[in-house]
Amino acid sequence: MTLSLTELAACFEGVIPSILCTVGADGTPNISYLSHVTRLDDEHVGLSDQFFSKTARNIRENPRAALLVVNPHDGAQYRLDLQYCETVGSGPVFERMAADLRATSAQVGMTDVMRLRGVAIHRVLGLRAVRSPLAAAPPEAWRGSALPRMAAVVDAFADRTELGEIVDAALDALEAAFRHGATMILLHDPARDCFVTLGSRGYGRTGIGADVLPGEGLIGLSGKEGRAIRVSDASRLRRFGAAVEASSEQENRTRSVALPSLPGAMSQIALPMATQGRIRGVLFLESPKRLAFSAEDEAALALIARQLAAAIALSEADAAEAAPDAPIPRRPSEVASPHIRVVHHAHDDSVFIEHDYLIKGVPGRILIHMLEAFLSAGQVDFSNREIRTDRALRLPGLKDNLETRLLLLRRRLEDKNAPIRLLRLSRGRIRLHVAGYPIVISDRKSGAQ
Ligand SMILES: Cc1cc2nc3c(=O)[nH]c(=O)nc-3n(C[C@H](O)[C@H](O)[C@H](O)COP(=O)(O)O)c2cc1C
Repeated sequence: MTLSLTELAACFEGVIPSILCTVGADGTPNISYLSHVTRLDDEHVGLSDQFFSKTARNIRENPRAALLVVNPHDGAQYRLDLQYCETVGSGPVFERMAADLRATSAQVGMTDVMRLRGVAIHRVLGLRAVRSPLAAAPPEAWRGSALPRMAAVVDAFADRTELGEIVDAALDALEAAFRHGATMILLHDPARDCFVTLGSRGYGRTGIGADVLPGEGLIGLSGKEGRAIRVSDASRLRRFGAAVEASSEQENRTRSVALPSLPGAMSQIALPMATQGRIRGVLFLESPKRLAFSAEDEAALALIARQLAAAIALSEADAAEAAPDAPIPRRPSEVASPHIRVVHHAHDDSVFIEHDYLIKGVPGRILIHMLEAFLSAGQVDFSNREIRTDRALRLPGLKDNLETRLLLLRRRLEDKNAPIRLLRLSRGRIRLHVAGYPIVISDRKSGAQ
């Protein structure tokens, strides 16, 4: 039976280093390890040249080489006979491999050391299985094609119109279909240029409100570069944010929420949620198993992420249309108890309820605005349209992600078990519910909005 490079896809996952043997002009062999070998098509592979020295000299002197690759699922080994073609230092092949290298080296803080100098493209002249010195482990049970799993996930959220429902349905369906471990959905906040966690499953805590800067870790890189990034064996990688302890004191001190992490995560995949040329967020999955996500899973999850982005964009647009309700003003009574202390810091719009950090930025500003309308006029019902057009709120333009911000605020209030809640009335309409009388203390200069 003739083997093809496609059947060896798992050997190119970067889990077990490949071994390259080149030969000098005098016939002396040279061995080097390669962590990054890419299958370019059914006849070509690309070797990542970061440190080639003797290897590069030998290739110039003698363009024939032998490469040993290992299937990490079962330990099976294969020998590839190679013929050197060329080394490329730019173009799509180079960019893709450089981005992969950036993704893994960013995790170990070695972005400067692990720089791709070139991709040495080789033609595969021969390919055969070689006897492994160890008995091969049985391959894991095949989970079936990713296509039905993808269809089940997309089906679960495609008909939902409200942002919170879309996020929850997608998270639940992903968990049921892929049975991986943990999932996070982060949406891009253009005002602060970061990715904010809007929902998660499989972690000890939700992490709602935790943010990741573009370029930071797997999530930030995927969001910044707009491409899927997959790590199949994270045992050597330091997980971004993993060392950060999550506690109320820490949230109060840093005015930020720590990103949740899955202890012992081995496989991670981050997928950009892009639609109409705009990256709206990142879908992130992780698993305690090595090689949990195959290339086929990646393709399926990439499509799910795109569908999710489109559903979210539609829900934002729909919610913006809703007209305001006529509110029934009823000023709150100061004798209502208990009094709820709400502190607002104007420089970052951070809000603390009963000394506990809640949120910052635009959602913080919106909450203070609602509480002030409640205190001065008894307003409890608000429509997206009136929030959007309220100039005092200084929302950042039409593409303001208002639905996202309101959902984030609503979920953070729930997460913190706060005596103030936002209830969703209907599409584009929310109700403020205060279990007591809010005392709002803001250091905003009088007259400034
Ligand atoms: C596990 C492991 C993986 C490596 N992966 C690569 C690689 O992907 N690219 C690279 O240029 N060097 C890599 N190296 C370094 C090479 O094996 C080798 O040290 C380098 O090519 C210089 O040796 P040479 O003078 O024989 O070419 C790796 C080394 C180890 C131990």
